[in-house]
Amino acid sequence: MRIVKTIDEVRSQVKAWKAEGLTVGLVPTMGYLHEGHASLIAASHRDNDRTVVSDFVNPMQFGPAEDLESYPRDIDHDSAIVEENGGDLIFNPEPDEMYHKGFSSFVDMTVLTEELCGLSRPVHFRGVCTVVAKLFNIVQPNRAYFGKKDAQQLAVIRHMVDDLNMDIEIVGCPIVREEDGLAKSSRNTYLNSEERRAALVLSKAIFHGIDMVRNGEKDCSAVISEMSGIINAEPLARIDYVKIVDCSTMQIITTLDRPALCAIAVYIGNTRLIDNFFTQDVQHGGVL
Ligand code: PAJ
Repeated sequence: MRIVKTIDEVRSQVKAWKAEGLTVGLVPTMGYLHEGHASLIAASHRDNDRTVVSDFVNPMQFGPAEDLESYPRDIDHDSAIVEENGGDLIFNPEPDEMYHKGFSSFVDMTVLTEELCGLSRPVHFRGVCTVVAKLFNIVQPNRAYFGKKDAQQLAVIRHMVDDLNMDIEIVGCPIVREEDGLAKSSRNTYLNSEERRAALVLSKAIFHGIDMVRNGEKDCSAVISEMSGIINAEPLARIDYVKIVDCSTMQIITTLDRPALCAIAVYIGNTRLIDNFFTQDVQHGGVL
């Protein structure tokens, strides 16, 4: 397993692999890897001959008041996780390797970014689409792996690949949770012990929503109102959003009459956490 810092090094390694006829999977990350990231690396290792993991805290996807400076970083810990899960190469560039002086081209998206995190974080998806498009151009993978934890991001990337005719298969992977239900996240490290306990309202609300849908509830406002009630009962929690959207357009719906995404964002103290479920996964029994 190698760690490289430059685009040229990634390109020449991938070129050599492709010359041997090997397939390449890409797992884009911002580092501080946990079992959620590990599951993506393992899936790529299963499906491809070689796996590249990018480890880059992308400044472009953070808003001015967000946690770019405090975002946790630990490349030694990350390289152990990549190695254990069958990754072959870590691409860990400095910001000026990705964004040279005078950088001025962007990939942006309309409709799918109007709700959920796109509404709360206006510059976020422009930063995500731009960096992921760059990573796709740098690595030119056969497949790329994204978690359903960031469900809107997964939908946006699928749409970008389709709109811009990128010849890459996008693979969506299930949410990995702590034993008590909290979705794994690099941002969980911000929580003190009191907040860690309070953060359980997210998965509690999600599991309740899943139960309602499983029991045949079709009225989105009923699901949203019961889930919001659970979250609001926790004094340390403040709702950013609890919404249900069409799973391909990411636009608000009122009745569960098509595949949908139920997504929440909640502040626990100063830490913003997200969680979600897809209704089609509930029907197929695949959420828990
Ligand atoms: P990051 O938050 O590091 O996440 C990298 C990938 O890991 C994403 O596809 C995310 O959905 C997945 N992931 C995170 N937690 C997960 C969990 N508990 N279960 C399953 N998958 C999980 O998402 C980003 O980085 C960035 O926006 C990026 C795509 C790298 C662009 O900068």
